[in-house]
Amino acid sequence: MAEKKWRTAITQHVEHETYIRGYRLLDLVGNLSFAQAIYLILKGELPNEAESKMMEAMFVSVIDHGIAPPSVIAARAVASGGNSLNVGVAAGVMAFGSAHGGALEDAMKFIQEGVKSDKSVSEIVSEYLSQKKPIPGFGHRYYKEFDPRTKRLMELAKEYGFYGPHCEFAQQVEEEIYKQKGKRIVLNVDGAIAAVASEMGFDWRLGKGFFIIGRVPGLVAHVYEELTTERPFSKRLNEKEETEYTGVPPRELPEEFKKV
Ligand SMILES: CC(C)(COP(=O)(O)OP(=O)(O)OC[C@H]1O[C@@H](n2cnc3c(N)ncnc32)[C@H](O)[C@@H]1OP(=O)(O)O)[C@@H](O)C(=O)NCCC(=O)NCCS
Repeated sequence: MAEKKWRTAITQHVEHETYIRGYRLLDLVGNLSFAQAIYLILKGELPNEAESKMMEAMFVSVIDHGIAPPSVIAARAVASGGNSLNVGVAAGVMAFGSAHGGALEDAMKFIQEGVKSDKSVSEIVSEYLSQKKPIPGFGHRYYKEFDPRTKRLMELAKEYGFYGPHCEFAQQVEEEIYKQKGKRIVLNVDGAIAAVASEMGFDWRLGKGFFIIGRVPGLVAHVYEELTTERPFSKRLNEKEETEYTGVPPRELPEEFKKV
């Protein structure tokens, strides 16, 4: 039989039943936590107890980080323009880029390749620093000594048995940056999740997905708050106090362009 155009190995309907990765959906309801169901749908198999606890911890660690990050600004600004909840949340998700959230994907790739590489940690770090390329998963606007979320996730990784070569590599990179730069560029929460998710055998191409899944509840809360407690259009700048014009001063349109 010819291959069909739309194929999936995720979900199947058999008569009136829905099966997720081969398991009856109704058997999952009430028996699996949300994080366990996420593990199943991403990995295709059920998690063991340690995997379940680690997944829960990773998602909880990124649920929100205040009103200031670009995604929340985007989400609340779009909602403030008179849009509905889904539009605001989608705007927030679109703000996830290489400097915010999206770093998780790059960091997973960096860590997975680093662990397999023949190069030493010192060589890898020096390549990035000499080319002034940011090392994904490292550095933070606020945290300059350590990222407390990283500290907690690494403690849990040790407790649950996921502190292996990927976590070790990530922490060695942090030390090596300090050695070479004389400045601490912390392993941030994206880097920590990237290390642990790599340890759990997830493909780096799922990296952004981890951040999206964990942060969307925070975005929903922010957009809901904006829609229900703030006036529409309140998310505009005070042009005088908060903005600076950097262009040419007012000038006359040349005579040859004037038609009226
Ligand atoms: C998050 C980020 C934008 C913060 O940048 P920042 O506030 O400018 O960081 P700092 O002011 O502390 O930077 C201090 C120095 O460290 C360097 N630095 C910062 N992050 C770095 C990184 N990931 N790799 C290498 N060098 C880095 C800066 O270039 C700067 O160097 P300089 O003193 O020689 O000019 C930045 O660290 C980054 O792009 N990280 C990678 C992406 C990432 O993981 N993002 C997720 C954040 S949760």
